Amino acid sequence: MIESKSRKKNFLVVAGVLIILFGIILISKVNTKPILGNTNSTSVTKLPIPPLVEGDYTLIPQSGETEFFEGVKTKTRGYNGNLLGPTLKFKQGNSYEMAIKNEMEEETTVHWHGLLVDSDVDGVFQVVQPNKTYNKTLDITQAASTAWYHPHTMHKTASQVIEGLAGFIIIEDDTNLNLPSEYGVNDIPIVFQSKGFDRNGQISLNRERFLSLVNGVNNPTLEVKNEWVRLRIINGNNDELFQLSFDKNTPSYVIATDNGFIEKPIREDELLLAPGERVELLVDLTEYKVGDIIKVYTDKEKAMEIKITENVSNNYKFSLPTELVKFEEENIDYKNLVQRDFYLSMRGMRPTIDGRTYREEYINERVKLGSKEIWTVRNDSMMMSTPHPFHVHGVTFKILDRNGKAVESWEQGYKDTVLLLPGESVNLLVSFENEGKFVYHCHFLDHEEDGMMGNFTVY
Ligand code: C2O
Ligand code: CU
Ligand code: CU
Repeated sequence: MIESKSRKKNFLVVAGVLIILFGIILISKVNTKPILGNTNSTSVTKLPIPPLVEGDYTLIPQSGETEFFEGVKTKTRGYNGNLLGPTLKFKQGNSYEMAIKNEMEEETTVHWHGLLVDSDVDGVFQVVQPNKTYNKTLDITQAASTAWYHPHTMHKTASQVIEGLAGFIIIEDDTNLNLPSEYGVNDIPIVFQSKGFDRNGQISLNRERFLSLVNGVNNPTLEVKNEWVRLRIINGNNDELFQLSFDKNTPSYVIATDNGFIEKPIREDELLLAPGERVELLVDLTEYKVGDIIKVYTDKEKAMEIKITENVSNNYKFSLPTELVKFEEENIDYKNLVQRDFYLSMRGMRPTIDGRTYREEYINERVKLGSKEIWTVRNDSMMMSTPHPFHVHGVTFKILDRNGKAVESWEQGYKDTVLLLPGESVNLLVSFENEGKFVYHCHFLDHEEDGMMGNFTVY
């Protein structure tokens, strides 16, 4: 708790500096009256729930249009649609034949962020040219969790994601914890992803107008019964952190992070989430009645609301589980593990890791398959430092400590993305169970594209 406060405070200082800089930029651009009208949400916009697909599937990245502002058609991209993509449901122990049929005019790749698969299907180096189809088999060996898929196209990741290419992956296994699991009813996928627009309402990094979007729409309403609901949350932003909270002191418990359940539910009223990170929450709505509205905030802004539209049946029963999973006691001789350092820095505004800019053919690290290592990641604390979410492909890790102190309980489960605010450092215990050439990078997508990424091999 104390640690979280001071992390927030540090971050606020940085945020303050950024706001002042941003202010200066704004003032220097006088004549920019936005010409866009209302967002397309005069009446209540229901939270869109992506269609659920199970089994083998063909993903079709395509171009389309979406109306974010009344009467304005914005060019967007989606998988099998105009924006975002279907939710893919996989079961542990199964294999899936996936095809990627690129109907866009530019090349793309599909990376399964959170899937523990070998690099030949990981989706960084398997480029799909326009009008081509690429087939891959995904072997799902991991436990239940929420993952996501998005492009990882060299120099086009940031644009393709912000234009709309992203979707959920739900992995299930055989353990039955009796959690809410009716998709779209009490088990809800929620991706927070803001977008900037130019004066003509087209998606742009110039951001004359900025919209906070949830599942692709501005300020939606999720309609549910007054029961416990499970929210699967992705921070799908290109480069913004947010602090998630619910109004009216609505009890909200973290039950899972990036790669699976944590040991027991942990109540958290505010959660700082970085791009790439996922959490699953159980939210207790049983004290509310029909008509009640609970606001959901990202930072201090209302991003969406939850409206109770139906009473739960009289015999409804749910009690919060006291245990979710049991982590094996790891009998590890830390002194004998290979340890590696990663230093994230914005030298002269150039995002680097260990002073280097990404080069596709250069192998930064070589790791032994089946091993565990300690990766020590540091974010510098110089003038222009920013937060960096550090993400590693093809592995899962635990955060052993942040700045030498144990991390908060909710962050003690399996992760693939970890937030480092300026000046912070973490030690990660990383397990290498998948084979091939992978990348690690900052999940601020413009940093990644500008070279804050490295290659490692596992054999
Ligand atoms: Cu979310 Cu390298 O990816
Ligand atoms: Cu990834
Ligand atoms: Cu970064």
